[in-house]
Amino acid sequence: MSSPASHPLDDGRTTSSALITALRGQRPERTPVWFMRQAGRSLPEYRALRVGTSMLDACLNPELASEITLQPVRRHRVDAAVFFSDIVIPLRLAGVPVEIVAGRGPVLETPIRTASDILRLRPIDPAALDPIREGVARTVAELDGTPLIGFAGAPFTLASYLVEGGPSKDQQRARSLMVSDPHAWAQLLNWCADVSGAFLRAQVEAGASAVQLFDSWVGSLSRHDYQRRVAPHSRRTLSALRGLDVPIIHFGVGSGEVLDLMAGIGADAVGVDWRIPLDEASRRLGGNVVVQGNIDPAWLGAPWDKLQAHVLDVLERGKSAPAHVVNLGHGVPPDTDPEVLTRIVGLVHEASVGALVA
Ligand code: CP3
Repeated sequence: MSSPASHPLDDGRTTSSALITALRGQRPERTPVWFMRQAGRSLPEYRALRVGTSMLDACLNPELASEITLQPVRRHRVDAAVFFSDIVIPLRLAGVPVEIVAGRGPVLETPIRTASDILRLRPIDPAALDPIREGVARTVAELDGTPLIGFAGAPFTLASYLVEGGPSKDQQRARSLMVSDPHAWAQLLNWCADVSGAFLRAQVEAGASAVQLFDSWVGSLSRHDYQRRVAPHSRRTLSALRGLDVPIIHFGVGSGEVLDLMAGIGADAVGVDWRIPLDEASRRLGGNVVVQGNIDPAWLGAPWDKLQAHVLDVLERGKSAPAHVVNLGHGVPPDTDPEVLTRIVGLVHEASVGALVA
């Protein structure tokens, strides 16, 4: 890009959008809604574009990544776009051989398990982030007033893929390294924090108006270990955003025991999974933290009247927080009927301006 455009949070394009208003702790006229994994296999237009391109190659193709990011915004009229990428992209950009296997997730040829493996990890060359910057800039140029959310994986979730070599049930090898070699663990999590931090900062500088830190597997940790051995590194990831006044959402699955700690590392909002009702989450958060969530993804296939009652219940419970961003409790399952997502967006928008009596 020869002359970078000004940032949407600076020139006012997204400043008073429903999402940014809510993340700043105020109640917008209409409750914002977006979906984790809104771009992806639930959309036939996504499946068509992806033919012949691997997942991570698609992420690093700015034109493709931008188009895939825009697809769900056009289709569902959600209140935010989320940049099409993956939490393992920073690993790839730092030279770690990683692939995404369909139906399974990220897989590494050679897991990182010893102190000497960890010492060999290199930082990201800033130029390697160019496709990310370009993908974000292209997307933001098309979005007008709709904010783009950038994201990254939190150090624990990333480290669990590195140590396990792929998806795992309880992240046992990773948690075992945490106790058996705390020094190597801290080095590994710092490295993860730094590559994720660079990835986040590149997205915000190129025009993202908010970010979400995904600590998807945080639910396998005890509160004590999260607090002592993980949270400081997540905080370090966010320190990469210093000086950029961008709202931060912090999300985890099975995070009920650590919600307050997740807010405490400097997040503006906490993403809650489907296990805890939002009024209970809000109580655990002390009543002064913005919440995001938490439609149960399993309900997306239920008859509409049941799903509608569930969504209205989520909206009602979300009133216990200073502001609420509607989302699912985790990502959109690939077999979801996309019409259902569009219908939820309509319902949330209507119900939250009072047009629909619950
Ligand atoms: O729309 C969006 O939410 C933005 C895109 C996005 C993807 N991955 C695209 C993707 C986001 C935010 C992610 C984050 C991500 N990636 C997380 C954190 C969120 C979460 O779900 O907890 C995690 C744990 C990963 C790692 C990962 N990548 C997994 C577990 C998988 C699923 C593997 C499978 O096939 O079921 C991926 C692949 C992936 N990332 C896909 C997409 C659209 C599917 C790949 C495909 O289309 O072939």
